Amino acid sequence: MIAKEIFQSSLAVRDPISFIRENRPFETSSVLTDSLSVKDNRTGKQYEIPIAEDAIRAAELRKIKVSDSELGVLSYDPSLANTASCRSKITFIDGDAGILRYRGYPIEEIAEKKEYLEVAYLLINGEFPSKGEYETWSKNITYHTNVHENVKKFMDGFHYDAHPMGMLVSSVAALSTFYPDAKQIFQEQSRQLQIYRLVGKIPTLAAFAYRHSQGMPYNYPRNDLSYSENFLSMMFRPPGYSPYHPDPVLAKALNVLFILHADHEQNCSSTAMRVVGSSHVDPFSAAAAAIAGLYGPLHGGANEEVVRMLEEIGSKEKVPEIIRQVKEGKRLLFGFGHRIYKNYDPRAQIIKKMADNVFGVTGKNSLLEIALELEKTALSDDYFIKRKLYPNVDFYSGLIYQAIGLPVEMFPVVFAIARMSGWLAQWQEMLLDSEQKIARPRQIYTGYAERHIDSK
Ligand code: SDX
Repeated sequence: MIAKEIFQSSLAVRDPISFIRENRPFETSSVLTDSLSVKDNRTGKQYEIPIAEDAIRAAELRKIKVSDSELGVLSYDPSLANTASCRSKITFIDGDAGILRYRGYPIEEIAEKKEYLEVAYLLINGEFPSKGEYETWSKNITYHTNVHENVKKFMDGFHYDAHPMGMLVSSVAALSTFYPDAKQIFQEQSRQLQIYRLVGKIPTLAAFAYRHSQGMPYNYPRNDLSYSENFLSMMFRPPGYSPYHPDPVLAKALNVLFILHADHEQNCSSTAMRVVGSSHVDPFSAAAAAIAGLYGPLHGGANEEVVRMLEEIGSKEKVPEIIRQVKEGKRLLFGFGHRIYKNYDPRAQIIKKMADNVFGVTGKNSLLEIALELEKTALSDDYFIKRKLYPNVDFYSGLIYQAIGLPVEMFPVVFAIARMSGWLAQWQEMLLDSEQKIARPRQIYTGYAERHIDSK
């Protein structure tokens, strides 16, 4: 069959890929448009592998084999750096252009105009809520901010200096034992209820973890405050009944930070949410895995490391020494670099701009001038320019968290609060994607061939 006939007849089927599947492999030199022509030099066989949406299906490689008894060729991609694990409509990132959009809306517009709970609704449901939808959504979340009284008992079991991320991972996992109905993941109503519970309770658990570490009584959530005000109130409301209202500038800043951290497509922690969720476990257990992924210093734990690094530097005069150590490979410049962004992280730009508003209320964070000097020096140094290392979302966020009064250990916890809506959006999209199955990658085995215990 010549290319034209093949192409014409391929249009009759659902897509070129199913056509190719039924007509493997081409023995002739026939070529489809949008495809790879691959010749296996081991056999001389020619294969046509369709390209759809700028990707090939890795499964198509399995056709390439020397003998039928073989598994076929695998794609080897450690850390999945060049592998699309899913098709998603939630978040779009153009790393080279420094573009970030949630469901098509630019992050800059969303951060300026929306409340975090509106953005959480957008990520999970695909559109911004109408007035009525928002009232129902925020009411349901507000009425799910309380946790079972027993939660306090295992919170109290942690050491006074337990890292709050460790407490958060554990308590979110523990919540799965309070809500066995969460296993009904294919019942839309149950999924919705778990989403209310997780978005509603994560700030409460986070604040409980903080209060425990401070030896302070837990503050219960208040239903008359916004999402970010309520978190600040649970964190900082003094014991007793003195009225407490968080500063509106700080609450607004936290609302923006929540929005900026809400989702970021297939990052490490979202991948953990999808992979663990693909076993059809309840969303609390999957979310605990996602929080554990975020905890790492290369991911959400970086904001904590940035402030520790700036405190270690101590003054602008020491910046050249740190840059030298980084260039000698002796240390990472935390808050710099990104797997996807090879340009300035748009979130870092928004946070940097917002810093002045916060410092206008809290007083300037002395670490800011070290951070600005570090950025200026790095962005004019060939080592960073050549490697396209720019400030990422974590570089300035910690300075604002610190100014608001959060201890460094709480920085990744605040990241987890914000990212919960993104994780749930990714989890639900995975569950409803008919192409997705339980995650089960293959491996290239490099171990021993068969050997026996008694053989000498
Ligand atoms: C987040 O994935 C996401 O979307 C994550 C996130 C989200 O919202 O979910 O955006 C949140 O996790 C932001 C990243 C926070 N992490 C940090 O700030 C930790 C410091 N950053 C690095 O560890 C690093 O940049 C990573 C882990 C973020 C990315 O690592 P990569 O993919 O290995 O970086 P790369 O391939 O671009 O590195 C190219 C070169 C390498 O050097 P060479 O081997 O070429 O000589 O740059 C070097 C890297 O070693 N490099 C750094 C560096 N980051 C990369 N050198 C010094 N300091 C750094 N921070």
